[in-house]
Amino acid sequence: MAELILGRVLHFKADPFEAGPDAARVDEGVVVADGHIRAVGAADALRRDWPQAKVTDMGGHLISAGFVDAHVHYPQTAIIASWGKRLIDWLNTYTFPEEMRLADPAYAQTIATRYLDLTLAEGTTSVCSYATIHPASVDALMQAAQARGQRIWTGKTCMDRNAPEGLRDTAQSAHDDSAALLAKWHGVDRLSYVITPRFSPTSSPEQLEALGALWAAHPDCLMQTHLSEQIDEIAWVRGLFPEARDYLDTYERFGLLGTGGLYGHAIHLEPREICRLREVDASLIHCPTSNTFIGSGLFDMGGLKTAGLRIGLATDTGGGSSFSMLRTMAAAYEVAQLKGRALHPAELWWLATMGSAQALRAGHQIGNIAPGMEADLIAVDLGSTPAIAQASARANTLWQALFPTIMMGDDRAISAVWIAGARRK
Ligand code: GUN
Ligand code: ZN
Repeated sequence: MAELILGRVLHFKADPFEAGPDAARVDEGVVVADGHIRAVGAADALRRDWPQAKVTDMGGHLISAGFVDAHVHYPQTAIIASWGKRLIDWLNTYTFPEEMRLADPAYAQTIATRYLDLTLAEGTTSVCSYATIHPASVDALMQAAQARGQRIWTGKTCMDRNAPEGLRDTAQSAHDDSAALLAKWHGVDRLSYVITPRFSPTSSPEQLEALGALWAAHPDCLMQTHLSEQIDEIAWVRGLFPEARDYLDTYERFGLLGTGGLYGHAIHLEPREICRLREVDASLIHCPTSNTFIGSGLFDMGGLKTAGLRIGLATDTGGGSSFSMLRTMAAAYEVAQLKGRALHPAELWWLATMGSAQALRAGHQIGNIAPGMEADLIAVDLGSTPAIAQASARANTLWQALFPTIMMGDDRAISAVWIAGARRK
């Protein structure tokens, strides 16, 4: 049965970084049926054309595509906001011991469910997540997302060195386990497998080569990893791969640079790396709350967008300090300010929806409101707290009304969530 959702329906005709804020449009309603968006337009016309549709009137709330979080570690849900460490110490102190616990499939299921509950409340309808080295941790998130009808990506994190006993695989088992999970899950319902070498310090050259071969055999799969997050990490990579031209080359030489590659963080890039990432049209994933929380550095959104890079936005839970894409947009704004560029609210919203969807090569399915696209939608209350309401009340434009929610909003701002057309919040 069709549903007509009325509100301030925000959608994009183009990338606002290229076309300016006018790339965004606001309509009065959206019609959803069979999990897909059927029509967008004026309320009267939609009521006339869809007389049988159930009407849900969200008043002045914004109706948007659900948020797409392009880089997370769902196994790190319970260690979010752990104090006092930088990347390598943070991994060893907090991350690896917690990831070890997901060896227990029941615990992995508990965390997967908890993670999807928490993110749904924040209006996140799709994620691209690392699992742990344990194949059952992939099953746990895939099954939980399948039960909710969500479009997600996940993959077994591969590590065969510089990780503790119990959290290491081998080049062969990483390849074979990944291949088996890919065959089991990739393309089932709305689920996609993503080939996942954690980062070059925790993979031997043999493992990187084996995963490069797996990707070559499955070029329709995405491949995710980390790149140039912290200065100490880059120095470590140089020591581990003395023959590599730079950090990116530790992936490139093993077949792990390409279209469909997702490179998390990408803060301290060399000119050659930027050039190659652009040439192959790979995706960079910006994780601003993580970059400030772990003390990694300031991503150059303005410069990299101008250079033509494909960029998505992400929380990097639990290196990131929030599950909320609103909070993540706020951090992206603050980081860009420190780099001398004030991101427009249209640019921030686009990054959290269509930018991430395009980074995941799914911009034809999710991340926007247009006929034919999948109906993952959220309603956003632009006056969800007294502080936000009084700031928003002064606005003359939609962007002015929205910006206080971007900067100060949380799950209270998310008044409704639809996944594949089904109301979930
Ligand atoms: N680099 C390698 N693994 C990780 C991780 O789990 N989180 C972050 N932020 N960086 C990483
Ligand atoms: Zn990460």
